[in-house]
Order: sequence, then C-alpha cells, then structure tokens
Amino acid sequence: MYRILRHFFFLLNPEKAHHLTMNMMSVLVKIPFSKFLLKKIHLAKRNEPFELFGLTFKNRVGLGAGFDKDAQYLDVMEAMGFGHIEIGTVTPMPQAGNDAPRLFRIFEDRALINRMGFNNDGVEKIAERLKKYKNRDYILGGNIGKNKNTPNENAVDDYLICFKKLFYDVDYFTINVSSPNTPNLRELQDKEALNKILSALQAENAKHEFPKPILLKISPDLSFEQLDQVIEVVQKNKIHGMVATNTTISREGLNLSALEIENMGAGGLSGRPLFDKSTAVLNYIYEKTNGEIPLIAVGGILRKQDAINKFKAGAEMVQLYTGFIYRGPHLVRMINKIKLSNKIIPAVEEG
Ligand code: FNR
Repeated sequence: MYRILRHFFFLLNPEKAHHLTMNMMSVLVKIPFSKFLLKKIHLAKRNEPFELFGLTFKNRVGLGAGFDKDAQYLDVMEAMGFGHIEIGTVTPMPQAGNDAPRLFRIFEDRALINRMGFNNDGVEKIAERLKKYKNRDYILGGNIGKNKNTPNENAVDDYLICFKKLFYDVDYFTINVSSPNTPNLRELQDKEALNKILSALQAENAKHEFPKPILLKISPDLSFEQLDQVIEVVQKNKIHGMVATNTTISREGLNLSALEIENMGAGGLSGRPLFDKSTAVLNYIYEKTNGEIPLIAVGGILRKQDAINKFKAGAEMVQLYTGFIYRGPHLVRMINKIKLSNKIIPAVEEG
C-alpha cells in the first residue's frame, strides 16, 4: 500500500510531499475509529514495553527529530506505531530556515540531503501546541537547539530558554549540537563549550523535584579523540544517554556522479549511506563506556536487519527518519517484531 502511495508522493517536491502526506493523514486520523485501527495495524503483537531513563516506552522504535519539528503531526505519528516521538529541533525564536530547495531525495541510494536550517515555529508556539497532548501513551522527546543568529558564546541561553519552556510538556530532552545546517553549531561539541551547556542544563534540571532525562545528540563526523572528549563531558555531567547520530557532511557511499552531488549543494546526508558511519560511532561509545551510557541509534535504518545490527552494536532503542520516508509504517512494524530478551538477537530476517 505504502509503495503505491510512494509513487505518487515521490513525483512531488520532497518538502511539499512531506506536508501533503502529513496533512492528509491528519484528516484521516480524525475520522472516528481510524486512529484506533491504524494503531492496531501498526503496533506489532510483539511490542514489548520497557524502562529506560525512568520512562516506560511501549516499544523500541521512535521517530527521529526533524520529521515533526513543530509537533503538528503527533496523532498521525503515534498511529504509525512509534513508541516515542522526538519533536524539534525547537529554537527560542521562530525561524524560516534556509531558502528552498533545501531537501533532496536520492532514491537509488535510499538517502536524503537536507539543509533545512532549523525551520520551526519557535518554543512559545510549540509549547502552547503541546498543552493538548497531556494524556498520551507514548513518550515525547523535545529536541532543542539555538537560533541561527545567536552567537556560540551565548548558545547556552538558547538551550536554557527551550529547556525551561518545554519542561512540563515533554518527557525527555535531546540537546542538539550536531546539525550541520546551522553555521558553527557543531563546534558546541568541543569540550569547553559542551561542558558549559550541559552543566547549565543539569543545574536547571536539579531545581526540579523530578528532573527530566537529558540526552546528547552527536555528529557522525567526530573523530575518536573528539568522541572521547564528548564522553568525558557527558559522564561528568551525568547526562542520561546519547543519540547517535545526526546527519553527515560526507558524501561517501553515494552512487551519484560528482556533478549531481555538487549540484545538490551543502547539507546533511541521511539514509543508507550513513549506516556504517553512524553505527561505528554508536559502537565506539558502547565499547568505550562498557555500555554504561544508554544509546539511541539513528542513522541509515532501512530494513529490520539494520535495526538488529544497531541493537547488536549497543543501542537500547532506534529512531527512524529517512527509512520511514522510503519504507513507511511497515518498517516500524517489522522492527517492533524483533524479540530482544537481554539483548539476545534473533537470526537474520528480511524485513
Ligand atoms: C533531520 N535530522 C534532524 N535532527 C535533529 O536533531 N534536529 C533536526 O531538526 C533535524 N532535522 C532533519 C531534517 C531532515 C529533512 C532530515 C532528513 C533529518 C536528523 C535525523 O533526526 C537523523 O538523525 C538523521 O536523518 C539520520 O537518521 P536517518 O534519516 O538516516 O534515519
């Protein structure tokens, strides 16, 4: 079914197709019983709730940040079988993002290149929108960042604004210092800058009787030395987990000609060509910390087996973005069927 619809949607410009599909689905889930039915179809029987960061997730598959930046499609995404949804990246002030075209499909490689640039409605409006989602049975993550015009020296203020504003509306936070599409943002992964942000957020968090889990989302382009420093800062600040990884600026693994790649211009690459790189980063952190930092894997999951390999490499949970564009809710369902008891991974199965 999704394959047939995909033929139609892939004729449209990717950004338009995204909003058109989501708006159509939003109408569909408002029809009585249809959301219930969709959930029944997409939540596999083997869905197993589990505890992580003190939260109960209904399964191990989440929607990666950037897909529902403004929390407009939560009902739809819940009906697609996701156990958690990460909204954002949210910034203090609304931003238009970069000029279009800024999202490119590379069908033959099952990849995307994007330079969206944190287009979002801003934290005030998004927090307001979330008020009507108090009674939900899925976990909501708030991915937060800084505005383009905020200099890196003041970035901590932007993260604090978003953290405070969303505190009672989300279940966990992800600190995004790894998008390649906000100039110099990734420098915030440097030891000192990162420590400043994470320590300020944890100080704010500690003021609450029930602090929120805080996760750090990192780039796949960090060297192992840089990763060592990031791990040190994460452990020092008792950050609850890491999300590995964001998109890459590398163009390795693409079958396009150099000219076609150049014509698409700058941006982050996601999807199949990112799989090895993001999995290597995930596994490095897992090995280095003896599995002490819970990891959410995102990057290049296009098949059930990809998710199994992420679990084998150390992930507790996975998130999808590009794979969901190419494979639809079937992929969520297939991953939800994976049986994970004490990380004993099943034999290879196609999905
Ligand atoms: C993203 N991603 C992203 N990540 C993030 O932390 N904040 C964001 O705002 C966005 N925005 C965004 C837009 C688009 C169009 C894409 C394709 C991706 C990154 C995303 O969450 C994920 O980390 C990567 O895409 C890698 O996973 P996949 O796509 O290979 O499954």
